[in-house]
Amino acid sequence: MARRGHSVLLVDTDPQGSVGLSLSRGIRERPGFYDAVAGAGNVSDFVLSTRLPEFSLLTAGCAEAFVDTSDLDVTVVQDVLLELGRLESEVIIIDTPAGMSGVTSAVLGGSDYVLIPQQAEPLGVRSVPNALKVIAAIRRQGKDLGVAGIVMTMVDGDNGESVEVEAQLRAALPAGIMCVTTIPRDSVFLRASSLGVPVGLLSSNPVAPAVAFEQLAAELEDKMGLSEPQDKDDGVEQLLD
Ligand SMILES: Nc1ncnc2c1ncn2[C@@H]1O[C@H](COP(=O)(O)OP(=O)(O)OP(=O)(O)O)[C@@H](O)[C@H]1O
Ligand SMILES: [Mg+2]
Repeated sequence: MARRGHSVLLVDTDPQGSVGLSLSRGIRERPGFYDAVAGAGNVSDFVLSTRLPEFSLLTAGCAEAFVDTSDLDVTVVQDVLLELGRLESEVIIIDTPAGMSGVTSAVLGGSDYVLIPQQAEPLGVRSVPNALKVIAAIRRQGKDLGVAGIVMTMVDGDNGESVEVEAQLRAALPAGIMCVTTIPRDSVFLRASSLGVPVGLLSSNPVAPAVAFEQLAAELEDKMGLSEPQDKDDGVEQLLD
């Protein structure tokens, strides 16, 4: 999304801190989201700029006290989110830990949309109905939380079970809730994380999964009603007069 011209802030609320760790080895030492939740400073001071001007990052920070996030104070989390909302990023993407309790439900309560990445494997998809129930309960509390979609990840086209799981989910859920885009299983993810670079920025000649993320970004722009980035909508040019 940042590469497409949106200003994006990526926030890691998973106490494991893998978003930061996959981009920089020294990141554990830096303060981040959980330091703000613990009252150790102003969250806007912890936001990191990156070499991509449209992309900034808030790492999980020192999360040791919050490894079990089930007794986290929801109002404190939502205050931190409100403060982030006052920054100038057009899109704030908040990665949460697995499951729907603790910090995840607090984040959902303060978000406009939820995107559910779902691994294409038989045990994994059993959590989808529960996730949708939790979202429905949050909406019943009067929160305006939209479902941006369920995006299938780790889809292995050569594996019958992986393909079958995706087909079953598409058949069972209301049309439109599943993203058209799927993220393939590919060893390039391992290479990207060992190099500390997002898959989309791995090379100027995009690898196949990078194209999938480009497509996902376009799909989300549409679903979330984001304006198309300036340099993308400056008209269609015919090839010949
Ligand atoms: N499409 C993919 N193809 C191959 N490997 C992948 C793919 N997506 C993720 N991985 C690998 O699987 C690991 C876990 O992926 P990821 O961090 O996205 O999962 P997660 O569900 O967020 O896990 P966690 O619950 O630990 O946060 C990563 O180390 C990554 O290298
Ligand atoms: Mg994760």
